[in-house]
Amino acid sequence: MCGIFAYLNYRVPRTRKEIYETLIKGLQRLEYRGYDSAGVAIDGNNNEDKERFIKLVKKRGKVKALEEELYKQDDLDSKTDFETHFGIAHTRWATHGVPSAINSHPQRSDKGNEFVVIHNGIITNYKDLRKFLESKGYEFESETDTETIPKLIKYMYDNRESEDTSFSALVERVIQQLEGAFALVFKSIHYPGEAVATRRGSPLLIGVRSKYKLSTEQIPVLYRTCNIENVKNICNSQMKRLDSSTCLHAVGDKAVEFFFASDASAIIEHTNRVIFLEDDDIAAVTDGKLSIHRLKRSASDDPSRAIQTLQMELQQIMKGNFSAFMQKEIFEQPESVVNTMRGRVNFESSTVLLGGLKDHLKEIRRCRRLIIIGCGTSYHAAVATRQVLEELTELPVMVELASDFLDRNTPVFRDDVCFFISQSGETADTLMALRYCKERRALTVGITNTVGSSISRETDCGVHINAGPEIGVASTKAYTSQFVSLVMFGLMMSEDRISLQKRRQEIISGLKSLPEMIKEVLSLDEKIHDLALELYKQRSLLVMGRGYNYATCLEGALKIKEITYMHSEGILAGELKHGPLALIDKQMPVIMVIMKDPCFTKCQNALQQVTARQGRPIILCSKEDTESSKFAYKTIELPHTVDCLQGVLSVIPLQLLSFHLAVLRGYDVDFPRNLAKSVTVE
Ligand code: F6R
Repeated sequence: MCGIFAYLNYRVPRTRKEIYETLIKGLQRLEYRGYDSAGVAIDGNNNEDKERFIKLVKKRGKVKALEEELYKQDDLDSKTDFETHFGIAHTRWATHGVPSAINSHPQRSDKGNEFVVIHNGIITNYKDLRKFLESKGYEFESETDTETIPKLIKYMYDNRESEDTSFSALVERVIQQLEGAFALVFKSIHYPGEAVATRRGSPLLIGVRSKYKLSTEQIPVLYRTCNIENVKNICNSQMKRLDSSTCLHAVGDKAVEFFFASDASAIIEHTNRVIFLEDDDIAAVTDGKLSIHRLKRSASDDPSRAIQTLQMELQQIMKGNFSAFMQKEIFEQPESVVNTMRGRVNFESSTVLLGGLKDHLKEIRRCRRLIIIGCGTSYHAAVATRQVLEELTELPVMVELASDFLDRNTPVFRDDVCFFISQSGETADTLMALRYCKERRALTVGITNTVGSSISRETDCGVHINAGPEIGVASTKAYTSQFVSLVMFGLMMSEDRISLQKRRQEIISGLKSLPEMIKEVLSLDEKIHDLALELYKQRSLLVMGRGYNYATCLEGALKIKEITYMHSEGILAGELKHGPLALIDKQMPVIMVIMKDPCFTKCQNALQQVTARQGRPIILCSKEDTESSKFAYKTIELPHTVDCLQGVLSVIPLQLLSFHLAVLRGYDVDFPRNLAKSVTVE
C-alpha cells in the first residue's frame, strides 16, 4: 500500500537540498508499496525570526516525477542550514480517490497548511467524520479518507482547553475517533521541529541516529487516562501532561536524527537502530527527545519499546547488476532457500528443528486440523505443500484464501491450528483472518518474511522464512522459501513416525540438493528468453498441470498476468475436459507442466487431449522424460527431484518467462500497474 517516510534532524544542520535528498531516497526505497503519486511537506522558511510556513509539493506519478518537481521549484543552492527540521513524505497507492496531486499526501488541515499528515491504511468511518467536520465549517478539497485526519486535528487544536496542550495529546484525541487501519505521521506549524507518529494495523518504525550515546535503550511506555467517547465531547477531556523525564534522548541536548518509515528498507542506509511501534503507540519527538505513550495496554503488555539493531544490509536491498529487483530476486533463490533452511535442517541426523514452533509442537500434533491461510502467491505456497503436509502430519489440511475464509465465516475451533502465510506480514485480509481465528482461540502460527511485522507479532508462534527483503512487487523468492518452510514443518511433525522415515529421508536429501538444482534451472534463462521472444505478442497464455504442480500453474499464471498484463490462467489438467478444453486450438499458447511423479500418466492423457485439438504445447518436463517431448512443440527440461519439491524447480522457468515477457512488452517489471507490494487494506 502506501509508503511513509519522515526525517527529523535535531541540532544536525542540514540544507534544504540535503533534506530533499533524504526524503526522496526514503520514498524511492518504499516505492514498491505504491506509486501512483507522491508528495512531501517541509518547512518553507529556515529563518527562526520570520513566521514559519509549511511548503507542500505533490505530484501524480512516480517518485521521480516528484523529485523533478522539487528541483524545479526550489533554490537548492542556498547554503542556509536548518538546525532543526522535520520533513514528511509519502508515496501513494490509491484507495479512496483517483491518483492525482490533490488526492496524494501529505493531506492538510486548511489552505494555510497548519497541520499536515501522511497516512498508510484506510479510515473506515471517514464519511461520518467528514460530515461532522463539514458541519463545523471545514472545507474538504480531496476525495480521500485521509483528509479527515488533518482537519480533525485542527478542530482539536482550535478547541483545545489550554494553550499548552501538547502535539501528542492532540494526536491522541484524533486517533480515538478513527476506525480502520493507519500509520500516521503529523507535522504542524504550531509545533515547529516536533514530530508525532502513531499506528493501528499498519506498520511503522522509527530509526534513531546519534553520534552520542543514547540515554536509554528501552523507552518506557507511558499511559494517560482520559475518558473520550466520541467526537462531540472530545474537547472536554482532561489530558495529563507527559512526564518528560522518562523520554529517550541523546545525552544532554546533543544532536540526534529520527527516521520514520513504513518499513526498514527506507531506514537501513541511515541507521540500523530502530524501534518498532505497536498498535496505538503514540511516539512524539520534542526538543530532540522521543517519548512513547498510549491509552490502552499494548497487545504484548510490554512496558517498554526496545531500540533494536537490524541485521539487514543495504546491499541486500539494492538491485546489484540486475535490471530489476524481480530478476535479482529470482536469481537469489539458490541462496534464499539455503537461508530458509540454515540452522534448521540437520542433513547428518536427518532432523528438522524450527525454533519458533518447538514449544508448541505437542499442541500442534494433537490438533483437529491444520488451516493454512494466505493471499495471492502466499496462498499458492499453501496449495503447493498441502499434499505433502497431509502425508507427513497425517492431519486434514485446509488451504484458504483469507478473503474468502472471512466471507464464509468459516467455523474455527480451539483445537484447530491456523497458519498465516504472508511475505510482508502486513496483508490486511490475512491479518483479519488471524484476528478472527484468535478470537476463536485456535493456535495461530505465522510464516512471514518480515521481522516485527503485524502477523509475526500477533501470532502465538511462527517461522521466519529468512528469504531476505523482497522488493519486486511480484513475489518470487518468498514463494520458494514459504514452500520450503512448510515442507520443513511437515518434516518436523513426522520425526517420530516410523512408517514415514524412508519418505522423510528422501525429502531431506531433496532439500539438500535443491540449491544446486535451482542454479541448474536458472541456467536455462537464455532459452526461456528465446521462448519469450516467440510469445510476447500473444494476448493469452494457459498454464496446465495437476497434483504437486497445480500450484506451479496457478503461481506461473499469476506472475504472467500481474507483470505482463497478458491474460493467463492456471488450469488443473484434471478439469480440462470439464470446460477449458474448449479454449484449445492451433493459436492458443499452452504451457504444460508434466513431471515424473504419480500424476505423470494422467498428465500424458491431458497432453493427448491438447494435441488432438491441434494445440501446440510448450512442455516443462523432467530431463529424462523422452515420452512427453515427442508431442511437444517445445520443451524446457528440468532436473528431477523428489515429487513434493519439484514445484520449487518448476515455478522458476515461469518466473523467468513472465519477467522476459514483461520486459519485451515494455513494462516496468518491478512496478506493475494497479498493484502494490504490501496490501494493507481489505
Ligand atoms: C503476487 C504477490 C501477491 C502477494 C499477496 C500476499 O506476486 O506478490 O499475490 O502474494 O498480495 O502478500 P503477502 O505475502 O505479503 O501477504
